[in-house]
Amino acid sequence: MRGLKILGYGLAHPDNLVTNDELSKFVDTSDSWIQERTGIKSRYISTHENTSDLAIRAAKEALLDANMDGHELDAIIVATFSADGQMPSTAGLVQAGLGINDKQLMAYDINGACTGFVLTLQTAHALINSGMIKTALIIGAETLSKILDYSDRGTCVLFGDGAGAMIIQKDDDASDWYHYANSKGDEEGVLTTDKIPLNSSLTNQSANFGYLRMKGQPVFRFAVSAMEDAIQNVLNQAQLSLDDIDWIVPHQANLRILSHVAKKMKFEESKFYTNLQEYGNTSSATIPIALAEMKQKEILKKGQKVILVGFGAGLAWGASYLEV
Ligand code: ACO
Repeated sequence: MRGLKILGYGLAHPDNLVTNDELSKFVDTSDSWIQERTGIKSRYISTHENTSDLAIRAAKEALLDANMDGHELDAIIVATFSADGQMPSTAGLVQAGLGINDKQLMAYDINGACTGFVLTLQTAHALINSGMIKTALIIGAETLSKILDYSDRGTCVLFGDGAGAMIIQKDDDASDWYHYANSKGDEEGVLTTDKIPLNSSLTNQSANFGYLRMKGQPVFRFAVSAMEDAIQNVLNQAQLSLDDIDWIVPHQANLRILSHVAKKMKFEESKFYTNLQEYGNTSSATIPIALAEMKQKEILKKGQKVILVGFGAGLAWGASYLEV
């Protein structure tokens, strides 16, 4: 598909950085266990900002980076599975937060869990290339800390809060971008949140907090094969090899998953951009946060060939090849 112009990037995280040592004051864990198993050293945990607050901050930063006014947007699409509530959409709250309620645009959320940002980019790209819209603000935003069960040490140590944003626009001169998405329904329930009960006064089902639940080892195996499948698929479509790729920006879940993929596909791990050491896993926000950080560090340069790759609950996975 004809590629796009990337006009700007933005990121936001809560100000409260929680190191592994600080976490081990209220979770039965240790810095060495977490770092050896995952590479994570800290994560941001929000104490006063919800998902929409982080999304709005990341969006404002992206607009500033693009040097544009929110009224130029035709769409706001937010990837999240930890919205402030079931409705309104986070995208609608971002529109209000940007002060552009007077602008005709489409605004909605996509729940693709950790593949959410890749799916959102693919959806927005299809809308732009169909001619329906010209410019889109796409965001990945989560406050996962509010759905973590801090008595489940195998899961709660992995996740954090944050948001990343990107503004994309139609570009008739761009080179092609390639996308791949796949899904395999999670029959075994390896990556879920507690179900919201049917009306409990009629059914006797007890209410719960919708906590995130994960069976770590099957998810690990799925992640390695899903990443390999997705990276290889977009390379084949683009008729490129890994040597041609400047960066792979993966969903930031676990350094050991990335090492396994690099070893299986025979490339240097340094091709992966990682920041999970600082952020932990922020689900749909990991990839756009990483891109915004790379732009800030001036290591993401115009014309570079980049693969974004996501995987997670669904079970869903996918990749996008872009020339940035
Ligand atoms: N601190 C200390 N000990 C712990 C902790 C902890 N935080 N968590 C578990 N343990 C203990 C267990 O109780 C167990 O002890 P035991 O042997 O006495 O019973 C031991 O450590 C080993 O537990 P395992 O669950 O077998 O540990 P494993 O090596 O599989 O590592 C992990 C767990 C890190 C979760 C790993 O399975 C993993 O990374 N899986 C992939 C998870 C992932 O990336 N998920 C996100 C992807 S999708 C998304 O982003 C939503």
